[in-house]
Amino acid sequence: DWTPAAFVHETIDRIREQVGNKRVVMALSGGVDSTVAAELIHKAIGQNLFCVFVDNGLLRKDEFETVLDSYKHMGLNVKGVNARDLFYGELKGVSDPEQKRKIIGRLFIEVFQQEATQLTDISFLGQGTIYPDVIESVSVNGPSVTIKSHHNVGGLPEKMNMSLVEPLRFLFKDEVRRVGREIGISELFLGRHPFPGPGLAIRILGEITPDKVAMLQEADAIYIEGLRDAELYDKVWQAGTILLPVQSVGVMGDERTYEFTVALRAVTSTDGMTADWAHLPYEFLAKMSNDIINRVKGINRVVYDISSKPPATIEWE
Ligand code: XMP
Repeated sequence: DWTPAAFVHETIDRIREQVGNKRVVMALSGGVDSTVAAELIHKAIGQNLFCVFVDNGLLRKDEFETVLDSYKHMGLNVKGVNARDLFYGELKGVSDPEQKRKIIGRLFIEVFQQEATQLTDISFLGQGTIYPDVIESVSVNGPSVTIKSHHNVGGLPEKMNMSLVEPLRFLFKDEVRRVGREIGISELFLGRHPFPGPGLAIRILGEITPDKVAMLQEADAIYIEGLRDAELYDKVWQAGTILLPVQSVGVMGDERTYEFTVALRAVTSTDGMTADWAHLPYEFLAKMSNDIINRVKGINRVVYDISSKPPATIEWE
């Protein structure tokens, strides 16, 4: 019978056997998988694990600082890298979603690789790959059409010529959470909604600018905090805010405004493959609309996305 405790025990032994007294480098994303994987490797080899956490400028509000802090509290040997300007620079003028994904994926690899090569004596690459990623990457390369090229750390191993340490390779998401709980990882990580690798880049329709990112971060923070306060966060599978490339007329005091619209998205799902729009209470939506419009400069209209997947997707890009 599979138990988290036995898994942890065996996995730590196996990592020690594989790695010996060599060093492992690993990219952290703030997500459940990379966090649990890193903590397992850390438990096995301690300070011989070197972690890199990249700020691509497309994370949620305050996410980089908060998550980096949590990693340090967990005792992880982690370096935070501020690469915001690099990402904004390369994304300038780019509107096509797949192009955005490619650029972000490439820059991420470049930044990570640069950090990794500054470390000496690294023999292994740690990754938070889970079983569904293994299956998915097979079908992505198969004859089926790629709808969205998902950016994970996928391209890294070939480019870096290192052996992999992937402690979660045979686990499903719920098992990863149970393992995380077993080794004392905070619920703040374990209960987190999924967040796409390209981050807010694919929630800003059209061209990305630092101003738009800042605006979206504010609106998104109000929404996510609102969901938590209303005890709705754990009832939905994923939620987020999308900045539309549309300006419309509004009125503020006796001024006419011409500002942006954000769409709120929340879905229920079990695996993200299909999803239903979440039937959030009207009063909650009303409060979010008021709070966002009153508090976020540049936004004068809020809409709620009532599309399910299929035929819509969860993200708008
Ligand atoms: P869609 O929009 O395809 O999203 O219904 C399904 C799930 O995948 C996430 N997603 C991504 N994750 N890189 C990622 O790492 C991506 O490019 C990407 N695109 C979508 C999305 O947030 C949802 O959880």
